[in-house]
Amino acid sequence: MSKMNPAQKEALVKELYEKYPYPSREVTNPQEIIYFAEWVAKTFGEDKSFWKGKSVLELGCGTGELASALALCGAKVIAIDFSSSSIKHAKRLAKEIGTAKNIAFFEKNILNLSENEFSAANKFETEKKFDVVIALGSLHHTIDALSGFKIACKFAKPEGLVVIGLYNKYARLKHRIKRAFIKAIAGNNIEKRIKTGETLFGNGEKNGKAWAADKYGQVHESYHSVGKVLHWFKEEGIEFISSKPKFEHAVIDEIKWLLEERGAFFVMTGKKK
Ligand SMILES: C[S@@+](CC[C@H](N)C(=O)[O-])C[C@H]1O[C@@H](n2cnc3c(N)ncnc32)[C@H](O)[C@@H]1O
Repeated sequence: MSKMNPAQKEALVKELYEKYPYPSREVTNPQEIIYFAEWVAKTFGEDKSFWKGKSVLELGCGTGELASALALCGAKVIAIDFSSSSIKHAKRLAKEIGTAKNIAFFEKNILNLSENEFSAANKFETEKKFDVVIALGSLHHTIDALSGFKIACKFAKPEGLVVIGLYNKYARLKHRIKRAFIKAIAGNNIEKRIKTGETLFGNGEKNGKAWAADKYGQVHESYHSVGKVLHWFKEEGIEFISSKPKFEHAVIDEIKWLLEERGAFFVMTGKKK
């Protein structure tokens, strides 16, 4: 099996999310949807009222549940994703929920966003910078998570928040071993990978095929430690505010987390100085 170059990896990530938009949750009413906005606000110690009047840029919005939730809570949202089927799904959801007028969706690659990207094209005629920039579960699927993070920081206003959710290098260890088995058996063939993963490790059945596709079909994900992300924050002039889960002693807590088997997704929030 030959090693893929970054462009090949990126093409397969896009192919996966074109076929299996994520998370594709079965949400039908606004009350259920608001949960997503509450959850994110809680990660940095706020509640849903925080979003009222905020301008938000979401990088890698997937099927748009969070974007609609933020809009329901009073935010103006620009949400981007490079999967056209995810954007289509997100737009349909926003229409159904009644949030479409407060969200502008764009089909774009996070890593190619330019400084003036949203100055003219967005329907809110906002400035080029945002009160909050959010990238949950997307940067670790780009081919260069650090560049994606730098782009997120560039779009935050001074005093604005940057909220990123990534897979943890330590806590994801068990899943990384599963992925090594999947790769050895199925290589980079998405359908074969999903089938192998489901056969060996089961299907979470959380949201149909999207869950298994994201977990097993995904050919590229990167892993990040709390210490490394704190270093990124420092380099980009971002003051650390909070994390979910909370970490008192970075590596020790991350290893404990692995042993507790409570997932491996962590969210870190900082404020642009
Ligand atoms: C695991 S999903 C997360 C979706 C959503 N943020 C959530 O938390 O449920 C990752 C998303 O990131 C998008 N993505 C990955 N790399 C991207 C890139 N370079 N540019 C734009 N979107 C990207 C994928 O298309 C996918 O919708």
